[in-house]
Amino acid sequence: MLTIKNLSYTYDSISQQEVFKDLNYQFEKGTFYSIVGHSGTGKTTLLSLLAGLDKPSSGQVLIDGKDLTDIGYPYYRRHHVSLVFQNYNLLDYLTPLENIRLVNKKAAPDVLLDLGLSKEQINRNILQLSGGQQQRVAIARSLVSGAPVMLLDEPTGNLDEEIAIDIVRNLKTIAHQEDKCVIMVTHSKALAQMADIQLALEKGQLRQFS
Ligand SMILES: Nc1ncnc2c1ncn2[C@@H]1O[C@H](COP(=O)(O)OP(=O)(O)OP(=O)(O)O)[C@@H](O)[C@H]1O
Ligand SMILES: [Mg+2]
Repeated sequence: MLTIKNLSYTYDSISQQEVFKDLNYQFEKGTFYSIVGHSGTGKTTLLSLLAGLDKPSSGQVLIDGKDLTDIGYPYYRRHHVSLVFQNYNLLDYLTPLENIRLVNKKAAPDVLLDLGLSKEQINRNILQLSGGQQQRVAIARSLVSGAPVMLLDEPTGNLDEEIAIDIVRNLKTIAHQEDKCVIMVTHSKALAQMADIQLALEKGQLRQFS
């Protein structure tokens, strides 16, 4: 459903570093993917391109066979994709519940409670929560968005292993039950192994190893 075709990307900066060259891959729906790779190999850059936040230097990103350029980037971002950033990107003057209701007016508090936040915490200001608690709000916001593609950049980096495993199991169930394409970048081998398909990003190429 989400295809990258001959994708190349270079940051327009002094470094002129080519992050990808002729990258090809097809992500399917109903599947949970993990992507591992050393720091600086381009995992976040790849998610930004898949999220339509940035445009390829050359090549294409396609959703259901249509180029994002033709669909329109803002439309794609609004209707097709949700991204959990490495740094959460929550609105810090709002509460967790208000944050998730920004993307889905009808979102129930249960999504936050299921992720282990208390009733009191979900009505507290975001800045009064720990890093791991904020991370769970970011995951909840993605869960309620209803987008068919979910992209998560290191979504469990600040969480205890047990909670992380629980959340990742949850992501896998969602991919299967709601027929979503869920792509998670992680540094944890154990979490990566929970995915249906494990990918490694190395030297600008995606290698599938399970
Ligand atoms: N805005 C930018 N301008 C120029 N170069 C950048 C920019 N952002 C990232 N890079 C470079 O592009 C490469 C890929 O960065 P990216 O953030 O995608 O790596 P990553 O795999 O997500 O790393 P990490 O595991 O540390 O999060 C790095 O070498 C980085 O220095
Ligand atoms: Mg990164």
